[in-house]
Amino acid sequence: MRSLVVSYSLTGNVGWAAGILAKGLGAKQLCLEPIVSYPQKGLGMFLHGGKSAVLGETPVLKPYVFDAAGYDQVILCFPVWAGRPAAPMLTFVREQRATLQGMRLSALATQSGSGAEKALARLAQEAGCSAFFRTLILIDPRKRPSPEKEGQLDRFIQELR
Ligand SMILES: Cc1cc2nc3c(=O)[nH]c(=O)nc-3n(C[C@H](O)[C@H](O)[C@H](O)COP(=O)(O)O)c2cc1C
Repeated sequence: MRSLVVSYSLTGNVGWAAGILAKGLGAKQLCLEPIVSYPQKGLGMFLHGGKSAVLGETPVLKPYVFDAAGYDQVILCFPVWAGRPAAPMLTFVREQRATLQGMRLSALATQSGSGAEKALARLAQEAGCSAFFRTLILIDPRKRPSPEKEGQLDRFIQELR
């Protein structure tokens, strides 16, 4: 299985999980970055990101290379924003929708409370698939690490192999 881990992270939780995932799968990583960064702290972080997600904005991403022919599966990793996928992940999925349809798609969402199920369902719909092959939801795995979360990530890796 040739795997690509595509991730967007604002404050490091998704980045942490995506790194472990990529290492465990022997996968390449594509880290998405919007051209205009979102604030990384304070009220501005919640206002800007939340508004962007609720409005369904698709912020322009820094140029990236996505060579779909080189992969059998893609794992989309993103934080939940206002019960939705973080806006930069929406940009990627909209831009690559046609290409993603032929591939095995899974997703990993991190959140601090709730909303990930809804966000995962939205993203699957945007990607044009009825459901992801596998999903994993983690509560702030970098900010609040635990052996249980590491175990969940390990099991997720086994399922994707
Ligand atoms: C704009 C914004 C909106 C958020 N909305 C939610 C939410 O609806 N539900 C939730 O549980 N966490 C929410 N969070 C918390 C993040 O999903 C959570 O901390 C996540 O692990 C952050 O990942 P990151 O560190 O990779 O950016 C929100 C965070 C931000 C910045």
